Amino acid sequence: MLLTDEAPARTRAIDPAFRRDIIEGLSRSPKATPPIWFYDRRGSELFEAITDLPEYYPTRTETALLKAHGADLAAAIGEGRAVVEFGAGSARKTPHLLRAIQPAAYVPIDISGDFLRASSADLAQAFPDLPVLPLVGDFNGPLELPKAVEGLPRLGFFPGSTIGNMEPDAAVDLLRAMRRLLGREAMLLIGMDRIKDRARLVSAYDDAAGVTAAFNLNLVERINRELEGDLPVDGFAHRAVWNDEKARIEMHLEAVRPLHFHVAGQCFRMAPGETIHTESSHKYGARDERLLLRAGGWEPVREWTDAEGLFTLVLAEAG
Ligand code: TRP
Repeated sequence: MLLTDEAPARTRAIDPAFRRDIIEGLSRSPKATPPIWFYDRRGSELFEAITDLPEYYPTRTETALLKAHGADLAAAIGEGRAVVEFGAGSARKTPHLLRAIQPAAYVPIDISGDFLRASSADLAQAFPDLPVLPLVGDFNGPLELPKAVEGLPRLGFFPGSTIGNMEPDAAVDLLRAMRRLLGREAMLLIGMDRIKDRARLVSAYDDAAGVTAAFNLNLVERINRELEGDLPVDGFAHRAVWNDEKARIEMHLEAVRPLHFHVAGQCFRMAPGETIHTESSHKYGARDERLLLRAGGWEPVREWTDAEGLFTLVLAEAG
């Protein structure tokens, strides 16, 4: 059953937070923009397409782990929890978890309201007895859980190695905020992507079909659409690079010629080869995963990894 008290979407004017983040990010040197702005409707759809790509192993691997270890998960987590999913998106992995653990409620949180409403409706249909309580918002900001889950023990679900899209200090802050939001008896099931062969990592973020490039370039189009921008889309190239020192894949938009453009009335220039750093995806060794969780106030209790050691699901309890 779908329970929502959201007002219908209004046509929106310029989003001041989007304008502030983009103007600030383009004024910085080197230029860098926060990844949350990728996820308008089109960005969320492109992201779903990325998860089906042959090169993009994380989604497939994590889904297989959830499917294979349902009984183990049920035993370790127990029944009757409120599952709170951070950045639910299409929530395609969630049914495997919900089927395994028999929760009392499901709270998907996502920044893309349209997308969240559609996926919540699908999920509510597949689980007619489960209260589904979608929450539109940025999980990096303050959140309040719906009244209906008060008193229930919580399980945070944070799949997709989304934690890796944060700088380590922000990742620790977020884990601590989750710990506070979810309360005393809480557990957290989190997906974390492993450090591996450089070529394998780079191709996962620079696929042959160009879907990841389209995802990255959609930010340029969104700036043009929503912030009165005139960025030449053909002036930018998608770049994915492995930064070994920081153990992360970086996505950049690189100027392929001298560029001069405007955003919300402000003027910007880029030299050829200069980039806008649009996202990072940190990768972890086994001990790094546990260290990060402990730093964030969570004690790891179980973990599941595929045979190739590509990706890990860690279950932790509130420390
Ligand atoms: N967090 C996942 C990852 O870093 C998914 C993701 C976020 C992603 N942004 C992306 C994947 C951009 C590809 C491109 O892999």
